Amino acid sequence: MAISDFDLVLFGGTGDLSMRKLLPALYARDRAKDLPAEGRIICIGRDNKSDEDFIAIVEKDSKPHISAASMDADVWQRFCKRLRYVSVNAKEAGSFQNLVKALRDDPQLTRVFYLATPPSLFASICENLANAGLATANSRVVLEKPLGRDLASARDINKQVGRHFSESQIFRIDHYLGKEAVQNLLALRFGNVLFEPLWRREWISDVQITIAEELGAGGRVDYYDTAGALRDMLQNHLLQLLCIVAMEPPVTNSADAVRDEKLKVLRSLKRFTPTTLAMNVVRGQYRAGHVNGVAVPGYRKEEDANPESHTETFVAVKAEIDTWRWAGVPFYLRTGKRMADSLAEIVVRFKSVPHSIFAQQNNSTLPNCLVIRLQPDEGLHMNLMAKTPGDGMRLRPVELEMDFREKFKTPRMEAYERLLLDVLRGHLTLFMRSDELEAAWEWVEPILEHWEQQETDPIPYNAGTWGPAAASALIGRDGLQWREEALPEV
Ligand code: BG6
Repeated sequence: MAISDFDLVLFGGTGDLSMRKLLPALYARDRAKDLPAEGRIICIGRDNKSDEDFIAIVEKDSKPHISAASMDADVWQRFCKRLRYVSVNAKEAGSFQNLVKALRDDPQLTRVFYLATPPSLFASICENLANAGLATANSRVVLEKPLGRDLASARDINKQVGRHFSESQIFRIDHYLGKEAVQNLLALRFGNVLFEPLWRREWISDVQITIAEELGAGGRVDYYDTAGALRDMLQNHLLQLLCIVAMEPPVTNSADAVRDEKLKVLRSLKRFTPTTLAMNVVRGQYRAGHVNGVAVPGYRKEEDANPESHTETFVAVKAEIDTWRWAGVPFYLRTGKRMADSLAEIVVRFKSVPHSIFAQQNNSTLPNCLVIRLQPDEGLHMNLMAKTPGDGMRLRPVELEMDFREKFKTPRMEAYERLLLDVLRGHLTLFMRSDELEAAWEWVEPILEHWEQQETDPIPYNAGTWGPAAASALIGRDGLQWREEALPEV
């Protein structure tokens, strides 16, 4: 669907997210000829600056985030012509008149207000937009995370923004939903007949979802120390992935059909009590160690860090979904900074064969396992048992592999590129609805409360490992292992 003419307003337009992700994503879509010729990008900051000065900043801070291979001087010139800079103080109603003057007054035009700002500014920005007469039917508002730090603050954001914009105008970003492999998971589940009959408790033993990062929290401790791994990654990205794996087939891929199904998953997650929490949640914090052979400091020794911080940089949870489809199937979720590898993957492990006819030949069969790889490479791996060639009946696991980059030579789209196009087109499927956001917070809240009451230290783990041993014990108690622990040594 072609995108119609737009004014896209980036609050936080001089900030890190704009420079690193949003402007490069818009440039990429400009280069792909997805943007209409007249579409404009109006970046907001507090200081007074001319358009030229702002473009010089973009040249310096944003351009380096575009790969040399995709840099085209003519397109870059064209892209810069779209850019405007307007000075607005989010908390000062009067300064929104600068924005009014900069916007085109055309009801046919799509207007997007992208709030890449701290959430503490969402309410005043929306209110000032409304007071300036800018919260019109042709406008959309995009909210960047963190969308709250608990249920009450998330509700408050929903309420404040909802005063001026209707739900169909609000785009809550979770960039994981824009990743190619997440889209592919939908295609795998609902574009094939093969998996869906097996996608249930009768055939699946457990599901693991891991987002591991080699990076530490250094450089953004200010934010990270107030959030921690549970708020930063689990409440949003990991739960969204879990929803896509576990939801019932939606009737269509329309926004509400998909979001209704995701909401049901979130509402079916078994609530933790203080007793079940102790058994099913592991919280860790990295100490000094080596990542890829390089010595790195512990979290408490990162620049500007609190030397006594209780903030977790790792969390592992055993979740359960109380539905007919999933009763009794554990979903192990984990994420951490300064881990042994950088990867994001979903591992669906099937049950063992009910009876092995090869046992007499001393063969043991391993359960089939489907791995959906999101990062760093996007692909699917499936383990099957096969007979080794030659005499006798000896079985061995073999891998069916599909690397999406090799399979499809077409250029990739970064998550933000896809999500920005969807905002401009008005497609809400890949954005969280208010009730989804609240349901996710509702589920994690007992964990947050428990940790606050306990005031205990997270379990230390060495940087460059897979987290505290307690995370292995969490899954080991069920007779299982994390995927990397189960892989044969090479
Ligand atoms: C962000 C978190 O939402 O996701 C970061 O705030 C994290 O802490 C990042 O590093 C990971 O995203 P990706 O796409 O690099 O896996």
